[in-house]
Amino acid sequence: MPEGAYFAITGVSLRFGGLQVLDDVAFSVERGEIVGLIGPNGAGKTTLFDVVSGFHKPRQGRILLEGVDLVDEPAYRRAWLGLGRTFQTARLFPNETVVDIVKTACHRRMAGGAVRGLLAGLLGTAGSVKAEREVTERAETLVERLGLADYANKVASELSYGTLRLTELATILAMEPELVLLDEPSSGIAQRETEALGPLLLELRRDLGATFLLIEHDMPLIMGISDRIVALAAGQVLAEGSPAEIQANDDVVEAYLGGAFTLEEVVA
Ligand SMILES: Nc1ncnc2c1ncn2[C@@H]1O[C@H](COP(=O)(O)OP(=O)(O)OP(=O)(O)O)[C@@H](O)[C@H]1O
Ligand SMILES: [Mg+2]
Repeated sequence: MPEGAYFAITGVSLRFGGLQVLDDVAFSVERGEIVGLIGPNGAGKTTLFDVVSGFHKPRQGRILLEGVDLVDEPAYRRAWLGLGRTFQTARLFPNETVVDIVKTACHRRMAGGAVRGLLAGLLGTAGSVKAEREVTERAETLVERLGLADYANKVASELSYGTLRLTELATILAMEPELVLLDEPSSGIAQRETEALGPLLLELRRDLGATFLLIEHDMPLIMGISDRIVALAAGQVLAEGSPAEIQANDDVVEAYLGGAFTLEEVVA
């Protein structure tokens, strides 16, 4: 089955010293799906993203993107192959404006024509003026789409944490990734922004045709937009299924959801 899947993780295991952080993790993702990854603190969710994006090499297992094993590909090659990710905390240059940060990411995306663009830029030719205008337009469109227009000319150090995280998301989308890994996009952002995040991600999926793997502790958000949920606990896949199936799964409820969460909260 994984051979035919758009993206598949098969038998991934990783130890940190004596700690088995990932233990034979396997699941697959279809193109265009939003798959949610949930689990208690320390379950291994961020570490799994680190393995997928190339920060850690698993002891065992494969990471297959359209059948190509990424395990031996360096992180930058994975980005070229269409993998984008955000981090659990935002990482941005503090003294650049929002629009410049997004423009820089758009430039990186255009690195395909890099050498020609660079030369044209040095020579100040018509091609570079056109390319620069395209980058500016793309960056402004993204800034607008993510509701950042009011902050476009503010430098990162002036922004609230929520706005920083949305800016970071804009930089990832500027790279036009095919598979986007989002690590707790709602963490540290205000309730109102969190509520806007669900519809925004659905809209981005529709418009970009991208596939999303999403880590979230905000249950209404992740249950509301995911097509499927994978629940991790102690480095193992505990359960996999639709949001409704996961919420009704006794193992998941015991390991993670506790009694504190019911389906009504999602629907409300
Ligand atoms: N670089 C590292 N070296 C050693 N141990 C690590 C390292 N990174 C993470 N761990 C450990 O691996 C386990 C899994 O951590 P991870 O950050 O993947 O969990 P998580 O599911 O993302 O949790 P959270 O919901 O709190 O973000 C934890 O026990 C953590 O302490
Ligand atoms: Mg984490």
